Amino acid sequence: MIAGTDTLKRQAVDLLNESGKLRYSFTAFSAQHTELTYYLVNHALAGYKLNFLDTVIMTFLREVVTNAVKANLKRAYFEQRNADIKNPGQYAALIEAFKREGVANIEDFVPIMKELGLKVHIYMETNIDGLRIIVQNNCGMTNEELLRARERIQAASAADSVPELLEQFGDESEGAGLGLLINVILLKRSGIGIKNFQISSDEKSTRVAITVPRSFQMPAQVAELYNRITSEIERIPTFPESVQRIINLCDNPRAEISFLASEIEKDPSVAASILRLANSGGFVVGTRVESIHRAVTVLGIKNVRQLVLAHSSRQILDKHYKVFEEFWEHAARVALYCRLIAERCGFRKLADSVFLGGLLHDLGKIVLHSLEPETVKKINGFNLARTENSTAVLEEITLGLSHAEVGARLAQKWNFPPVLIDMIRNHHSAFAADVSHSVEVSIVHLADAFLRVEENQASYVYFDIEAQAHLNIANAKELQAIHEWVKEAAGKQVL
Ligand SMILES: [Fe+2]
Ligand SMILES: [Fe+2]
Repeated sequence: MIAGTDTLKRQAVDLLNESGKLRYSFTAFSAQHTELTYYLVNHALAGYKLNFLDTVIMTFLREVVTNAVKANLKRAYFEQRNADIKNPGQYAALIEAFKREGVANIEDFVPIMKELGLKVHIYMETNIDGLRIIVQNNCGMTNEELLRARERIQAASAADSVPELLEQFGDESEGAGLGLLINVILLKRSGIGIKNFQISSDEKSTRVAITVPRSFQMPAQVAELYNRITSEIERIPTFPESVQRIINLCDNPRAEISFLASEIEKDPSVAASILRLANSGGFVVGTRVESIHRAVTVLGIKNVRQLVLAHSSRQILDKHYKVFEEFWEHAARVALYCRLIAERCGFRKLADSVFLGGLLHDLGKIVLHSLEPETVKKINGFNLARTENSTAVLEEITLGLSHAEVGARLAQKWNFPPVLIDMIRNHHSAFAADVSHSVEVSIVHLADAFLRVEENQASYVYFDIEAQAHLNIANAKELQAIHEWVKEAAGKQVL
């Protein structure tokens, strides 16, 4: 959470609870606004016992708000250049430059937008029918744009399944159209329905409204998959007793190292991986570590605990599922990036903790891949290149649970520490992290997102602003510089 917003958030929720209505406005959507919005949405949904829809609604809102701000920004950009946005010739001459300069440098245009009175308003209303949210900006759509948007909504709502929709529209590269499509899929598949989504426009403004009906029910098909995945998680074994004993000893400050070492020796595969780590770079120079006792001393109890968790998770998953090597390669790379980001952003103390978070962040993918390989492949192949959590949300509405949530449930079952569970659960939705873990979650989020940029699956513009705020990253330039540094530092290390 960002300092100073705590009281504000509580006041806003009180106001919404008391009067059933709330309105707030902004020029650009900042980290504080996302957190405030998430907080309000989460509380409002809780009133109807519909909290599980919070990521769906947030994804919807972030998309809508981003587009609303962008339309205002476009207007400011054209007015600053004395160009008429409605004149086709002038529009064509400037639009490419706007996409290059305007979208990436939104901070530069905030004063101009303020001067022109360009704002985005969010209205929330809670009543007997459910939660209603309206997002409004200061830019009217042309008739043609409105028609196109409505056609698109119609076409998307006619399709039957997510894969079908993805095939039909998957090659769309233009942002706003694709964003709208994602939202239609979201509402349709989540069970909220298209009829609860309205878009209207006049000369001066565009309004997008959504209603979450209190009588909401998860679609039967999704509920069935949800149940299948949940019972699969139940079937996955817990850690063996020998491993549990080692972890308990690590947690006991009075436990003797020699006793811990003798417990580790009873589990040959844990013992072997501890020796391997103790002998890898960074821990000892010169002499080889031959005994477990010495290895524990060299690594420290905290590292031993981390290693045992990582090792045992991998063993169980490897035994139950066909896990592809690329999965662990990705995990190892994210883990390394996590450590480097922690060092670079001034959180050196968290380096070990986020390393483990990076290693285990995608655990849930293994389960989903093996249960629903075809659907998952299609979702992953659909390059949304937009919001960081699109894939997770698509999984949620198609399968009932995202890989992040599946991983978190598995981590809960395995008694992982709360911070680790949070890193797994929210690595695609840093805004939803618990206040006390926001830095750790943001680091894992950023490490994963950097790799997506390297694979051409994401761009800096759509990075989570909350994660950047938690890590004190001021702007896109700084973000890019950190990425370059991390990439170079990682290149020097052997994975
Ligand atoms: Fe992920
Ligand atoms: Fe990942």
